Amino acid sequence: MTTPSQFYTGLVAELYASLRSADPDVETCARFVTRNGTPALELGCGDGDPLLELRRRALDVEGLDSSADMLDRCRQRAAALNLDVTLHHAEIENMDLGRRFRSIFLAGATFNLIVDDATAGRALERIAAHLEPDGAALIPLFVPPPVPAADIGRVSERIVEGGHTLRCTTIAVQRREAERLQTATLRYERVENDGERSTTDRDWTLHWYTPPLFAELVAVAGLRPLRVVDADGAPARAESTAFAFIVAPA
Ligand SMILES: C[S@@+](CC[C@H](N)C(=O)[O-])C[C@H]1O[C@@H](n2cnc3c(N)ncnc32)[C@H](O)[C@@H]1O
Repeated sequence: MTTPSQFYTGLVAELYASLRSADPDVETCARFVTRNGTPALELGCGDGDPLLELRRRALDVEGLDSSADMLDRCRQRAAALNLDVTLHHAEIENMDLGRRFRSIFLAGATFNLIVDDATAGRALERIAAHLEPDGAALIPLFVPPPVPAADIGRVSERIVEGGHTLRCTTIAVQRREAERLQTATLRYERVENDGERSTTDRDWTLHWYTPPLFAELVAVAGLRPLRVVDADGAPARAESTAFAFIVAPA
């Protein structure tokens, strides 16, 4: 199975920001950090959204990611914007940064990229170990809907500055409900103006939880939920499919 540190490399790291389906919500992250305090840590900061905007607002936020290629791009963007940023190259489930934070957050459902419950439990333990006693962590999650058959083969395409074309196509999907796993095989392509083409196929795996299942993992990791909210901020229900856990040390 492709791990996230293998997935977000090379051509995928290069095309990710241009082809992502939605931009991360800067305001939610800024409010969370302002309310819970700094220092703060963004997990899965990738190439710097929303981390760099939070740094531009002078918030004391560091970033962590398992992909060296994404972190290189983040460093380059920070330098171009004249921003100081502290970046950690580590997996959430293995992080050991030697310090604690008032706020730890993920800006999107990156936690769903952890492909099994045991690794997710370890990631939650590492989050607990990096929180100040009065700190809190924000973990957005979702239950991916099955990919409609009509979407297999559909191309998302962007023509970017310089005129070259970036494409992402879902070429196959395998869903295993019992294991709460969905793997989409994605084809990433970059086509230059002269027709030269770079292509890479990658398996993108999502693992999901219902709110009650995630609450069990949170408790075992030594955390307690402060709130569990739906996308509209209302308390999440057991059957919610997009929700966020706000957790604190137990
Ligand atoms: C969906 S991208 C989000 C990047 C950025 N925050 C954004 O929204 O543009 C997910 C990022 O999380 C990183 N990632 C995935 N699983 C991780 C893990 N277990 N530990 C650390 N980073 C991880 C990937 O390398 C990738 O850069």
